[in-house]
Amino acid sequence: MDPELGDNIVSLGMYLGFDLDELGSATVKIGLTAAKCPLRNQLKRDIEQALAHLPEIRKLNVAMGELSGEQKAKLMDIARRNAQKESPNVEIPQSARIIAISSGKGGVGKSSLTANLAAAIASQGYTVGLLDADIWGFSLPRMLGVSGRIEAEGTKDSWRMTPITKKVGDGELQIISMGFLAQRDSDAIMWRGLMLSRALQHFIENASWSAVDYLFIDMPPGTGDIQMALSRMLPRTEMVIVTTPAKGASLVAARMGDMAKKGHLRIAGVVENMSGFTCDHGATYPLFGSGGGQEVADQLGTSLIAQIPFTPSIAKLGDVGITLVEAETLHEHEKAAKNALIRLATDIVTKVAPIYEVQSCTARILAAVDSALGPL
Ligand SMILES: Nc1ncnc2c1ncn2[C@@H]1O[C@H](COP(=O)(O)OP(=O)(O)O)[C@@H](O)[C@H]1O
Ligand SMILES: [Mg+2]
Repeated sequence: MDPELGDNIVSLGMYLGFDLDELGSATVKIGLTAAKCPLRNQLKRDIEQALAHLPEIRKLNVAMGELSGEQKAKLMDIARRNAQKESPNVEIPQSARIIAISSGKGGVGKSSLTANLAAAIASQGYTVGLLDADIWGFSLPRMLGVSGRIEAEGTKDSWRMTPITKKVGDGELQIISMGFLAQRDSDAIMWRGLMLSRALQHFIENASWSAVDYLFIDMPPGTGDIQMALSRMLPRTEMVIVTTPAKGASLVAARMGDMAKKGHLRIAGVVENMSGFTCDHGATYPLFGSGGGQEVADQLGTSLIAQIPFTPSIAKLGDVGITLVEAETLHEHEKAAKNALIRLATDIVTKVAPIYEVQSCTARILAAVDSALGPL
């Protein structure tokens, strides 16, 4: 077993071979995800222990090297899928992509991007789930202009909650947020108390996500418990990192990279928000600096997938619950932001993270691998 991934090292592809010579000297070859893996000694001890009862082996050598990039990618894929199998409660379809909008710090526009991007994708005909993981500072209900109340249905041991919906174009948003649970009567307070302690888990496991093509997760500020919990509960989550254009964001990048590594979450790309403000006369002002997005992307070894200009009406519209794709009349500079969002939405559904059904080959191979592996 790999102590970190909690999976069998053979099925993970970390076991690379075994040799035994006539003198009883054996060598087990193991590939690690990182050559200096802090858990290598534990792994070595476990292997020695597991083989100790074999009389043929008189001397055991555990040879450890590093897996190739391709082997590592394969390993993470298997680990992800195994973990997925272990969460039978999750209703999110296998074809859906799960994207967490994260950043190293607050106030960079995670929630605004989550709301606007989800609406832009929905307007292209998709059903987009929105999980507001900012439990204490929820803002999606206000930004999307949706109100309502989510009730628990079913019995105490098996209950579901149905997201609040909003139609956008041909598609639909399905939203779960603590904002829909904040009620006054005693019944509600009781069930809210029950929720709060494990809100994220309930939002993932007890919500009806069965119809979603995409699930966007609006992350709280910081890089902490919620991120780690997410990587445990939904290991196939991919992260889109939001940053401002200010240079010197390396700290942010380092933190995010570290987090991604710890949770083994894939980084889908970087979005630079609040990029140059272009006035209606066409002049562009880099209010918050420039180059930060590219810098973070380079450091994380990923791509800069969008630059959303600084657009004051994002804040104004957000206050009245309208996203840019829904707004009727827009100034030129607002259109630029709207177009950047539509472009990003199109890139996500076609290139960055298309739903698995449309990735015909990959989906078929994955399905074949899944059925060949069977229950592990
Ligand atoms: N591209 C943008 N142009 C102008 N204001 C923005 C932009 N993106 C976000 N904002 C504003 O910045 C503030 C912080 O955004 P928010 O989405 O709440 O950030 P976070 O979720 O990262 O804390 C909000 O007032 C929001 O309206
Ligand atoms: Mg937020």
